[in-house]
Amino acid sequence: DEAERSERIEAALDALGDDVVILGHNYQRREIVEHADFIGDSYQLSKEAANADAEYVIFGGVTFMAESADIITDDSQTVILPSMEASCPMAGMAEALQVDAAWAEITDAAPDADIIPITYMNSYADLKAFTAEHGGAVCTSSNAHLVFDWALEKGDKVLFLPDKHLGENTAHRLGLEDETADWDPWDPEGKDAAEVAESDIILWDGYCQVHERFRESHIEDIREKHPDANVVVHPECRREVVEAADVVGSTSTICEVVEEADPGDQWAIGTEIHLANHLDRWHPEVEVLPLCGDACMDCNAMRQIDPNYLTWVLEELVAGRERNVIEVAPREKELAEVAMDRMLELQG
Ligand code: 13P
Ligand code: SF4
Repeated sequence: DEAERSERIEAALDALGDDVVILGHNYQRREIVEHADFIGDSYQLSKEAANADAEYVIFGGVTFMAESADIITDDSQTVILPSMEASCPMAGMAEALQVDAAWAEITDAAPDADIIPITYMNSYADLKAFTAEHGGAVCTSSNAHLVFDWALEKGDKVLFLPDKHLGENTAHRLGLEDETADWDPWDPEGKDAAEVAESDIILWDGYCQVHERFRESHIEDIREKHPDANVVVHPECRREVVEAADVVGSTSTICEVVEEADPGDQWAIGTEIHLANHLDRWHPEVEVLPLCGDACMDCNAMRQIDPNYLTWVLEELVAGRERNVIEVAPREKELAEVAMDRMLELQG
């Protein structure tokens, strides 16, 4: 049962002592975040990984996050992902091989332009390496605006990968909404490279299948049922949803608005359901409402991190066996780190 499993996890953690740190993303299940040393958004967790001294970093999150932790930690540290099935579909929407081919097309179409790739953290290490090779940087949902500013100062155009909604919402935030073009290089009906290359901000056609399901009608329903409710949504949501919300921000911003709310305030949360549930538990003084109505905004990839797997990887470590190690190839790691360091320097 849960109590017994929890005891086993704590016993393994006691046996491992300072050798282990557990990082948990805000979207992880309660049974995982309860055991985490740090809970946070993608940016905060990458900082925690960079600062961690522990020999083993156990990542409660998805593959790209564990890869990013491996990129940013020392070679002597080992990153473990409790389930190898935890892969974010959005990260899979921009594979480095595809992007290479598309990059050739677009740079041919705009030979005189200095195009800077910006790659969302939600991407695999080889795409981050590609980004560094072409002078670009990584960003997360909390600093995309800073990285856009940096790139547009350095070059003429941005190719943003893979989340078109975060790209569009960021362009909007910077007053650049008229400069964007969506691009799906494989859509025969869609725009060609020459057409999109006329715009300053070229958005790869990827999306998060959790956040894309939020609709304006969810916000209208909440406002009708709870006229005093405030609405906060993640910038991976569609433009019209972000526009209808009161606040937009990364998962840590979503946590902050609830932390800072007055007792009795109502906040509707437009992001993955586990975070809405955590906030409801952590802040009983605030009325936390999930924005999703009847639809279940559950991230399948995050859900793969089952507490039984956490127990298994920890007990295996106690027995001297490393399971589910995430290791990025050395050359890729070196380049991807350059793209991540550019981001870390910009946000400080
Ligand atoms: P943040 O925690 O950076 O806001 O990211 C959200 C997300 O979708 C991670 O998969
Ligand atoms: Fe990927 Fe969306 Fe899940 Fe985040 S919430 S891991 S972007 S599918």
